[in-house]
Amino acid sequence: MALAIYPGSFDPVTLGHLDIIFRSSKVFDKVIVAVSGESRSKNFWFSEIERCDFITRCIHHMKNVEVRAFEGLITDWAAAAGASVLVRGLRAVSDFEYELKMASMNRRLNPEIETVFMMTRTKYSFLSSSMVKEIASYDGQVEKFVPAKILDDIKKKQEERKNSDLS
Ligand code: COA
Repeated sequence: MALAIYPGSFDPVTLGHLDIIFRSSKVFDKVIVAVSGESRSKNFWFSEIERCDFITRCIHHMKNVEVRAFEGLITDWAAAAGASVLVRGLRAVSDFEYELKMASMNRRLNPEIETVFMMTRTKYSFLSSSMVKEIASYDGQVEKFVPAKILDDIKKKQEERKNSDLS
């Protein structure tokens, strides 16, 4: 059975991520979306539990996809889960260098795990979770970029953040 892991921080999940998840589910027998824990370098809006919950809400129609949180090195975690493939989305040329470095390092760490790249759909090639948060923080419209099922959560978080800035 070809089990693939699609790792990321998903803060929050976007339509671009969901597109990669859906297309991966057609290629592999099973896909686990691996949601990274807290990060020192990223300013997360949502907890690990919230980020997992957002994805879970959006994948119920994909029967061979599940969501789990992960800690530590992704190659160790993938090997422990019995996976042989890491899926990564490539949005633009600018992603290539970073992804090449990461795939090369991951291969050094575990040569049994292959990284497979999927080209992000053109309409999502400019999209990132940080941009969604930036637009939301200026009360902009993010409907075109994130699943409808998490829109209220983004608006609520934005309100909370606005109120905590004012206090
Ligand atoms: N659609 C929309 N956005 C996309 C996208 C797509 N198809 N593909 C990538 N992105 C965006 C993400 O939203 C993210 O945006 P942000 O930086 O604004 O949050 C950005 O591109 C980067 O995504 P990604 O490369 O997946 O980074 P990440 O921070 O979400 O996840 C990990 C990186 C967690 C997978 C990686 O750091 C990791 O494996 N960490 C564990 C430690 C490890 O093993 N490191 C490797 C060896 S050194």
